[in-house]
Amino acid sequence: MDEKDTGFKKINNLFSLENKVSIVTGAYGHLGSSISKGLAAFGSKVILIGRKEEKLKEFVQNTPTLMKKRFEYYTCDVTKKDDFQKVVENVFEKHGKIDVLVNNAYGKQNEKFSELTKNQWNQALEHTLTHYFTCTQLVSPIMLKAKSGSIINIASIYGFLGTDHRIFLDLRNNPPVHYAVSKGGVLQLTKYLATLWADKGVKVNAISPGYFPKKKPNIPERPDYIEEIIRRTPMKRIGKPEDLMGSVIYLASDSSSFVTGQNLIVDGGWSVW
Ligand SMILES: NC(=O)c1ccc[n+]([C@@H]2O[C@H](COP(=O)([O-])OP(=O)(O)OC[C@H]3O[C@@H](n4cnc5c(N)ncnc54)[C@H](OP(=O)(O)O)[C@@H]3O)[C@@H](O)[C@H]2O)c1
Repeated sequence: MDEKDTGFKKINNLFSLENKVSIVTGAYGHLGSSISKGLAAFGSKVILIGRKEEKLKEFVQNTPTLMKKRFEYYTCDVTKKDDFQKVVENVFEKHGKIDVLVNNAYGKQNEKFSELTKNQWNQALEHTLTHYFTCTQLVSPIMLKAKSGSIINIASIYGFLGTDHRIFLDLRNNPPVHYAVSKGGVLQLTKYLATLWADKGVKVNAISPGYFPKKKPNIPERPDYIEEIIRRTPMKRIGKPEDLMGSVIYLASDSSSFVTGQNLIVDGGWSVW
């Protein structure tokens, strides 16, 4: 193979995740499923994290055979730092490295601002923001030692935009105040760590999804809610979970080798006007 061929092969492999080991929290959720499948499709071994073993099992069982062998899972509540530490130790013992961490899990709590107690506020931050910090703190020493790694924090457009309460009609599914505050925190955590580790080989970036509504068991189907989102979205549709795959693969792979501290907004243009 001459020098030109090698160069071409290198460019051709820019998005490859072969031989990488990735951890995804909230891995079988609405967006986590797509994130996990996207990473596996590009060659990564993907360590799936969630609180329910049967859902982890079901997720793996329902993926194509070729992809199945790229998945491993651990039942873990990411708000419990000691439990996640055990996961990190196990993964490192088995694979000798961790290349990618996708902080994605979140536990929804929907209290009204006027009724929100201090305890609920603290608990909500634990479930939406604090584990991004603790999981990163546990995985980063491995990446820093290897002088290589990519941390991808799933944020939200409501981490940097004011929440548009008009969209949510009377469905009571408005993102609560602690959600906006947590996601704003996720974006600042991203920037802080990006500059801290920029010259140490570890990239830290965020992805902010726009509207990716999913059917919720206790909330009736409301076509007018979806229509309103579509009406206001420049691309005239809601997000499909697979719309997130490309940005995750990009940030996990060498194709983003000079990109850190960024917030990649995947919202069909919602935040542009
Ligand atoms: N969907 C959207 O429109 C949208 C828009 C903007 C941003 N986002 C962000 O995208 C991310 C994923 O959201 P989603 O819509 O996919 O939500 P989802 O379907 O509810 O998925 C969240 C996942 O996190 C897991 N989880 C929750 N708490 C956990 C914990 N303590 N430990 C381990 N796993 C935990 C849940 O599983 P268990 O409860 O079974 O453990 C679930 O699988 C979130 O960070 C969210 O803020 C979503």
